[in-house]
Amino acid sequence: MRLILRDAVEEALTHQAGLKTLQKSKFRELWPCLLLLLLLLPPPLLCSSEVMPEPCELDDEDYRCACNFSDQQADWSSGYQCMAAVEVEVRGGGRNLEEFLGLADTDPKQYADMVKALRVRRLTVGAARVPARLLFAALRGLGYSRLKELTFEDLEVTGTSPPPPLEVTGPALSTLRLRNVSWATGGAWLAELQQWLKPNLKELAIAQTHPSAFSCEQLRTFPTLTTLDLSDNPALGERGLAAALCRHKFPALQDLRLRNAGMETPTGVCAALAAAAVQPHRLDLSQNALRPTANPRAAGCVWPSALSSLSLSFAGLEQVPKGLPAKLSVLDLSCNLLNRAPRPDELPQVENLVLDGNPFLDPGVTNPQESSQNSRVTRICGRSPVAQG
Ligand SMILES: *[C@@H]1O[C@H](CO)[C@@H](O)[C@H](O)[C@H]1NC(C)=O
Ligand SMILES: *[C@@H]1O[C@H](CO)[C@@H](O)[C@H](O)[C@H]1NC(C)=O
Repeated sequence: MRLILRDAVEEALTHQAGLKTLQKSKFRELWPCLLLLLLLLPPPLLCSSEVMPEPCELDDEDYRCACNFSDQQADWSSGYQCMAAVEVEVRGGGRNLEEFLGLADTDPKQYADMVKALRVRRLTVGAARVPARLLFAALRGLGYSRLKELTFEDLEVTGTSPPPPLEVTGPALSTLRLRNVSWATGGAWLAELQQWLKPNLKELAIAQTHPSAFSCEQLRTFPTLTTLDLSDNPALGERGLAAALCRHKFPALQDLRLRNAGMETPTGVCAALAAAAVQPHRLDLSQNALRPTANPRAAGCVWPSALSSLSLSFAGLEQVPKGLPAKLSVLDLSCNLLNRAPRPDELPQVENLVLDGNPFLDPGVTNPQESSQNSRVTRICGRSPVAQG
C-alpha cells in the first residue's frame, strides 16, 4: 500500500499537474490514503522526501535546458522537455554510453522530421564515455538540425571511428569547442571530426584535449575559420604551437588565442607563426609566464603584417619584452610587474597602449605581492597580477 501510494504521489507531483494526472481508477482506490497522508504531512516535507529531482530542468522561457544524468537510476525520458529549448546542456555523470551503441545504426532519415523541429542552437555534451561510432552517428543526425554551437566537455571518446561519410552530412556549425576530451583514435581525431561538419566553421577552441597534437596531413582546409583558440593548454608550448598551426589549413585566421598555453617569449611565438605562414590580426598571449629576452634563434623574426592587436597582460613581465612587432594599434600590458613607465624606445609604435594594473602606476606599492586590498593593482587585476601559467 505504502509503495503504491508513494508511486501515485510521485507521479502526481513530478508531472506538476497535481492530482489531475492520476488515473481515475487508481485515484478512486487511493484517495482515502492520499487524503490522510496530505493531512498528516505538511506539503514541503512530502515533496522533499518523496520526489526525486528531475535530471533535466527547463527554464520558464523555454530557452535553456540543462540535464545532469549522474544518478544511477536517471530517467532519460526527462530529456524530452529539452526539445523546446534553444540552449541545451547534457552531462552524463561520467557514465558509459556504450549501451546506446545500437542507435548508431539507425537511419537518421527515420527521425529527420523530429530533429528539424528542434529549436536547439547551442548544445553542450559532457561527462561521459562515448564510442566514436555513436558520437559520429549523433553528428550525422544533427545534420538535420539548425545547431550552430557545439561544445564537448570532459568526454572520453572510445573505440575506432566509422569510415568517413561519402558526403558531409553533419551540422553546419559556426563554433566547435572541445575541453578535456580524449580520443582513442589518436592524432587523427580532428580530421575525422572535420569530415562530418559542413565547412562553415568560424571558431574552433581546443583546451586540455588529448592528444592535443592533431595530425595536419589528413586535415582539410578550414576555409572560413577566423578564430582559433588554443588557450588553457599549458603543455602546448611554442613547439606544440608550430605543429598545431598546420600550414595552409587556416587561411582565414584573424584571431589567435593562446592564453595560458605555455608560451615563453613573444619572439618564439613569432617564429611559430612565420613557420606556419598564418597571418592573424589579433594575438592573445595573456596568462603566459613570458620571459622578456628575445629567443636568439627567433631573433629577427618577421611578424605577420596584418597583426594589429597584441595582448601581453597577466604575463609576469617586469620589463617590456624585446622583439615585439614594430607597429600595433593595440598593445595590452595590463596586470604585469612593470616598476617604471616604459621608455618610448622600448615600445613599438602603438596607438592604444594599456598599462593598467602595473605597480608603477600605484604610488607607494613597490611589490604587488604586498599590495593592499584597496590598491589600484589589486582592484584591476585581482589578488596577484602575475602569470597563472
Ligand atoms: C551533477 O550532479 C552531481 C550529483 O548530484 C553533482 O555532483 C554534479 O556537480 C552535478 N553537475 C553539474 C554540472 O551540475
Ligand atoms: C576530464 O575528463 C575526464 C573524463 O573523461 C574526467 O574524469 C576528469 O575529471 C576531467 N578532468 C577535469 C580537469 O575536469
